[in-house]
Amino acid sequence: MLDLTPDPATLEPIETASIDELRGLQLERLRWSLGHAYTNVPRYRRAFDEAGVHPDDLRDLADLARFPFTTKQDLREEYPFGMFAVPREQVVRLHASSGTTGKPTVVGYTQRDVDTWAQVVARSLRASGVRPGWVVHVAYGYGLFTGGLGAHYGAERLGCTVVPVSGGMTERQVQLLVDFGADAIMVTPSYALSILDEMREQGLDPRGTNLKVGVFGAEPWTEAMRAEVEDAFDMHAVDIYGLSEVIGPGVANECVETKDGLHVWEDHFFPEIVDPDTGEVLPDGEQGELVFTSLTKEAMPVVRYRTRDLTRLLPGSARTMRRIEKITGRSDDLIILRGVNLFPSQVEELLLEVDGLAPHFECVLTRPDRMDSMTVRVEAREGQLLGDDRGRAAATLQQRIKARIGVSVDVEVVEPAAVTRSIGKAKRIVDRR
Ligand code: DLL
Repeated sequence: MLDLTPDPATLEPIETASIDELRGLQLERLRWSLGHAYTNVPRYRRAFDEAGVHPDDLRDLADLARFPFTTKQDLREEYPFGMFAVPREQVVRLHASSGTTGKPTVVGYTQRDVDTWAQVVARSLRASGVRPGWVVHVAYGYGLFTGGLGAHYGAERLGCTVVPVSGGMTERQVQLLVDFGADAIMVTPSYALSILDEMREQGLDPRGTNLKVGVFGAEPWTEAMRAEVEDAFDMHAVDIYGLSEVIGPGVANECVETKDGLHVWEDHFFPEIVDPDTGEVLPDGEQGELVFTSLTKEAMPVVRYRTRDLTRLLPGSARTMRRIEKITGRSDDLIILRGVNLFPSQVEELLLEVDGLAPHFECVLTRPDRMDSMTVRVEAREGQLLGDDRGRAAATLQQRIKARIGVSVDVEVVEPAAVTRSIGKAKRIVDRR
């Protein structure tokens, strides 16, 4: 693969500033952001008052721990616009996340927020190895989901030719990728696999396209999946992270030259790791729930927003900003099977080690006889694992899950294309309990 390390001269100065300079900027911005939330959002004012804290109490960054958390529930209760800190007329854009139950979570942006967002996505793309002048194929969904438009504005800001395909119509995706000669693709990793299958179906060589970088996010994916797609497309696969409540994609991104976790763009989003049960702040390096406070957002500042994503904070490497470790799962996706905790991503990692198994899978949960049980339904690769070999591959995966995760599950190896495909975020858990 090509060396795509960006020229240091093209980075923003803050990306390589000293830690002292970064912390100084954060403190100044954090003061502003807490004051902005307190003054303009009644819910924050009430919550701060109840906790007995005032924005003036913030003397250094560690004082943030005294401020109350914000959860998705807060946003739901203020549906639709109650969390906005500016008059609705100054909000130039709305997005919303569907949510599995009830009302969606609404987020808003001022013109300056839209600019900030474009800037952090452009920075993310540069870190991913994308260059001005490239053709960028955006297959994240456009619409209320932040993926498509977030990616779009960022790629435009970097100076790319953007192809706003959105998700779906996989046959046409392939045609446009090839005909327009896309240099980079932005897509969920699971949908990238569907595009890959479609290319093979059409008799095209996925390694023969012009693609040099895939910018993958919006769902967990593993190092094993990275190896899979990098090899299949002969391109770099880089991780992008974000969530609508904080801004959308572009909160954190990997650097193509290191691929060692995602640098949090800390000049705009201040990260903390807390114990998911007690809420206590954990030191860098310890595993826990990721929490964000926005530092510059105008329309909808968030204070200590609980993401439910589990990871740890690591020191900066290719950039000054701290990194988060690749996210293995959200607490919502944690499966507790007869007392053992596991995430679908652990299953992904293990099944990709078994010859002949494809990365298309789902974890089906049932409760026969009052005991939880799980069946991994995983596809055989096209033309592989015929006859008895399926049973052997299933047994191998079953043993590895038992040995490495410590729980007995059933494994069913199914035909290629038997597992439902996603065009956005994959649904890995099917709960039939
Ligand atoms: O998924 C924003 C996004 C779009 C990010 C495109 C990256 C690329 P939401 O729909 O609000 O926003 O979902 C946010 O998705 O809390 C994580 O659980 C998960 N997630 C996002 N990126 C990653 C990633 C967008 N790189 C939720 N790795 C987050 C693992 C991710 N999980």
